[in-house]
Amino acid sequence: MTESALAERTPTLQWSEALSLELTEMDQTHREFVDLLTAAEMATDADLLTHFSALIDHTADHFGREDAWMRETHFSSTNCHAMQHQVVLEVMREGLKRGTEQADLALVRQMCHELGLWFPQHAQSMDAALALHLRRVGYDAQTGQVHMPEALPKELIQGCGGSCGEA
Ligand SMILES: [Fe+2]
Ligand SMILES: [Fe+2]
Repeated sequence: MTESALAERTPTLQWSEALSLELTEMDQTHREFVDLLTAAEMATDADLLTHFSALIDHTADHFGREDAWMRETHFSSTNCHAMQHQVVLEVMREGLKRGTEQADLALVRQMCHELGLWFPQHAQSMDAALALHLRRVGYDAQTGQVHMPEALPKELIQGCGGSCGEA
């Protein structure tokens, strides 16, 4: 992509308060995700894969942390939120592989654009439902402590409480 074409680009996703879920640790990670995605989208061809790789590393931590919060508060490990994390991360890794091995930068750029469209939907459905659940059970993301264990469901939660249609 030429420098002039890059200069005219705007990132697909920008942080807005609509993305805030009132859970400090989650919001901070989501702000970082938006920043790293912007860095990848605005990167020159020479830097694109480095930025995309950094985004993948951050996303693996981001998803891993949310998955752990779910496991610690009675979600099934195969609930649809955790499954969506797994699929998205696999797709991103496959994109990086093709970008690296076949120099398919257009694919990586397309993927960045699609991630920018996907993220608000994910944050405002699955992550929002998780944040609400964590607040209900008094989960402290710093210490992993559940302050209101009586609010934890007796059965493992199979759905995500988000947009997947499962409770
Ligand atoms: Fe998230
Ligand atoms: Fe998530």
